[in-house]
Amino acid sequence: MSPAKNQFLALFSHITRRSRGVGQAATPWFTKPIASAPMNGWSGPKLVAAVANHGGVPIFPIGYFTDPAAILKDLQSILPLLSDNDQQDGIDNSQNNNEELTKTEFLPYAVGFITFWLDRQGPDLLLKILEGQGDLPRSTPSSGTTTTGLKKVLRPPAAVWFSFGDYRPYLKLVRQHGAAGTKVIVQVQTVQEAIDAQLDGVDVIVLQGTESGGHGAQRVRPLLSFVPEVADVLQEQGKAKGLKVPAILAAGGISVNAQFRAVQAMGASGVVIGTGFMPTFESPGPQHAKERILKTGDGGDTTVRTRIFDELRDFGWPEGYDGRVVRNLVTDREEEDMKTRGVVEPKGADAFKVLREDRTGTKEDWKQAVKDQDLDFIPLWAGTGVGLLKKQVSAAERMDQLLGESEKDN
Ligand SMILES: Cc1cc2nc3c(=O)[nH]c(=O)nc-3n(C[C@H](O)[C@H](O)[C@H](O)COP(=O)(O)O)c2cc1C
Repeated sequence: MSPAKNQFLALFSHITRRSRGVGQAATPWFTKPIASAPMNGWSGPKLVAAVANHGGVPIFPIGYFTDPAAILKDLQSILPLLSDNDQQDGIDNSQNNNEELTKTEFLPYAVGFITFWLDRQGPDLLLKILEGQGDLPRSTPSSGTTTTGLKKVLRPPAAVWFSFGDYRPYLKLVRQHGAAGTKVIVQVQTVQEAIDAQLDGVDVIVLQGTESGGHGAQRVRPLLSFVPEVADVLQEQGKAKGLKVPAILAAGGISVNAQFRAVQAMGASGVVIGTGFMPTFESPGPQHAKERILKTGDGGDTTVRTRIFDELRDFGWPEGYDGRVVRNLVTDREEEDMKTRGVVEPKGADAFKVLREDRTGTKEDWKQAVKDQDLDFIPLWAGTGVGLLKKQVSAAERMDQLLGESEKDN
């Protein structure tokens, strides 16, 4: 795939691997239009590094953060895992006399915020990340071509991702305080939101279909109609108002190469993959949950969109959002209640109480279920593409399969 010809990859052509040796051209980090979703609990430094090392665009999950310092430390821990040996902690390039270094000014990954959570915590962490505090101080040539005049630089991330809430105040912050090359990626769920994001000057719009694993909008459609409609509307609006057309990524239920090609044919530059990266060696998710993902077939039937876990977990998800999970005792109970009693779904602790009385008799409480990582009770977020995933593989293999560059099964 030629990065120059792909609209999404072309946005990041300024982010290059450091190369050594006179006359050696710098190569772009991102060569594959696959972004790994910012999956809270299921992505982390190892997966982020594996995706970047293989040419994809990883989005580090900031999640429901409470401790900005811990997040900055996690971000720094990605650096030694990158296959670019100048990323290592505190390397002093002044020893590399006579070698030309290509200056890499951005970290080869994005950071993904849950926007409504960022509203609650304040923008401090975002600003620190934009200043480059997720980097480790290193020496780099100030001129870009010689090793004299070394200075310490701290690099910002390639991009910042916002999902689930009003991104506009933060878009402003990135444009005001971020480096000029730091891109803004926004995940949306309606055509109107995509239109607005283009008007706002967002660089990349992620279209999240109902197929998606994890949280999304309650009122959302399948990608099959969502992607071509948005692709059309953005082109038209671009022409009519003289606006840049943002790159489009499709997210939701995509596990295999045929789907990847289909969304590209409909107007997407690339894809965001969440569930497909869950059963990889590099994902930090628990092994028994990875195995459950691999055993789960027919994602249309075995997964369901629900708010029940948001009621139980009390993260205060705003109205209008739910999430797709693999069905379990909790979602069965919720459905049964709706069907047989016409009951409005039990809320929060009440829901768990009803469930405990009726079904388990053994569980102490929700906390115990979480401690046990008991998938009969806790949510296993997954998209409808779950039935197409058969084998635990490396992140690189999963990407090759998506691109049709691997002979192996999923
Ligand atoms: C386990 C899991 C956790 C997720 N966590 C987040 C998150 O923290 N922030 C976010 O913006 N999206 C999150 N998502 C949704 C993704 O951004 C994306 O829309 C989705 O994974 C795409 O669908 P797929 O999982 O079918 O590939 C999550 C998805 C999954 C499966």
